[in-house]
Amino acid sequence: MSLLANKRILLSVGGGIAAYKAAEIVRALDAAGASVQVAMTPAATAFIAPLTLQALSRQPVATELLDPTEDASIGHIRLAEEADAVLVAPATADLCARMAAGMADDIVTCTLLATRAPVVVAPAMNSAMLEHPATVANLERLAAYGYRIVDSDRGVLACGTEGPGRLPDPEILLAELEAALAPQDLAGVRVLVTSGPTREPIDPVRYITNRSSGRMGHAVARVAARRGAEVTLVTGPTGLTPPHAVEVVDVESAADMRAAVGERVAGQDVVIAVAAVADYRPVEVAEQKIKRAGADSMTLELERTDDVLAAAAKAAGERIVVGFAAETEEVAAHARGKLERKGLDLIVANDVSRPDAGFEVDTNRALLIDRDGGEEDTGLVSKVELADRILDRIAALRGDTAARTERR
Ligand code: CTP
Repeated sequence: MSLLANKRILLSVGGGIAAYKAAEIVRALDAAGASVQVAMTPAATAFIAPLTLQALSRQPVATELLDPTEDASIGHIRLAEEADAVLVAPATADLCARMAAGMADDIVTCTLLATRAPVVVAPAMNSAMLEHPATVANLERLAAYGYRIVDSDRGVLACGTEGPGRLPDPEILLAELEAALAPQDLAGVRVLVTSGPTREPIDPVRYITNRSSGRMGHAVARVAARRGAEVTLVTGPTGLTPPHAVEVVDVESAADMRAAVGERVAGQDVVIAVAAVADYRPVEVAEQKIKRAGADSMTLELERTDDVLAAAAKAAGERIVVGFAAETEEVAAHARGKLERKGLDLIVANDVSRPDAGFEVDTNRALLIDRDGGEEDTGLVSKVELADRILDRIAALRGDTAARTERR
C-alpha cells in the first residue's frame, strides 16, 4: 500500500501550460488511494477547466479566496488544516515569487500560509525564467521554509526551447510526496543496496541466471531514499523502473557486482545485499556461440564466484552490513549460520519455497535476525512494508552502535 493511501492531499495548481498535467496528477493520486482536493490560482483556470479536476477528484475545486459558498469565507483555513500534505504543481515563476514573499492574495498562496502540513513544490516554466537569479533566490527561500523542491526535468518545453523546466511525471511527484510524509530518520545516511539477479555468461548469447526479479532490492532502495538516505543501487538486469532519487549502477555478472560494490563501499554507512548473486560461473566463456555439432550432451565446468557481501562485511568497520538468506528449509538455522559466517549485523531470511514469498511476487514474509540474537517474524507483508521494517531495524542498530562507540 502506498504511503499516500487514505491521505488528504491538497493539489495546488499554478497558471502555466503544465497545468494541463494536473489531470494526470489527480488520477495518479487517486489510484494511490489518496483523497485529493484541488485549489487553483485564477491563471490556472485559463489552462485547465476546474470542472475537469472536479470530476477527476470527485470534490469541488477551490478557485476563489472569498468564496460565498464556504461558511464565513474561511474555506482556505479548512483546506489548509485538512491537508496531510500539499503539492504545488506546476509552480510558475510568479507563484514561486508570491510564495517566497509570503503573500496571501489567492486561494493557493493563502492556504500555503495557513497550513502546517509538509509542502512539495514542483517548479515548471521556461528555462530562462527558471535560471533567472530572482527565481533561483525564490526557490532557495522556499527550501529554507522547509518545502521540498522537486528538480524539473530537461526536455523540449511548450515554448519550443530545450532545457530544464518541464514538470516531472506524476510518479516522481508522488514519490516526492511520499518522502514528504515519511519519517526522515535516515537523512544523510549513505546506503548501498545490491539487487536483482546476476548473469554469468556461457557464450555470447547464453548465460546462467536465477529467478530474482529485483523487486525486493528496488523496494529497499526506494524506501531508504524516501526516508532521507543517500542511496546507491547496484543492480543486475531486472527491467524495473529505477527508483526515484537513487544513484543506479547497472551490472551483469557477479564479478561486475563485486567490482562495483568494492569501488563504492568505503563511503557507505550501511550495505544491504539483497541481490541473488550467482554462486557459480562457467570456468570458460566461449568467444563464439557454442554450436550443437551433433553432441548428445555437454558438460559445463563451473567455478565459485566471489561473495560480494562477505567482502563488503570484511571491509566494514563501523558500517552496518545486512544480508538476505534465501532458503527452502530450516530457514532460521541456515540464516543464523550465514549471519555468523559472513560477519553480518542483520540477516533477512525468506522461505523462498512459499508461493507468497521470495521471488517474482510483490509480497514477502521474513525472519529478521540481528547480531545480538533479536528475532522478528514479519508475517506476510508487501515488499515495501518489509523494506520499512528492515530499515527500522537498521536505524535501531545504528543507534546501538553510536551508543557503544560513545561509551568507549
Ligand atoms: N551473496 C553475495 N555474493 C554471493 C552470494 C551471495 O553477496 N556470491 C549475498 C546475497 O546477496 C545475500 C547473502 O549473500 O545477501 C546470502 O545469499 P544466499 O544465496 O542466501 O546464500 P549463499 O551465501 O549463496 O549460500 P547458500 O547458497 O549455501 O544458501
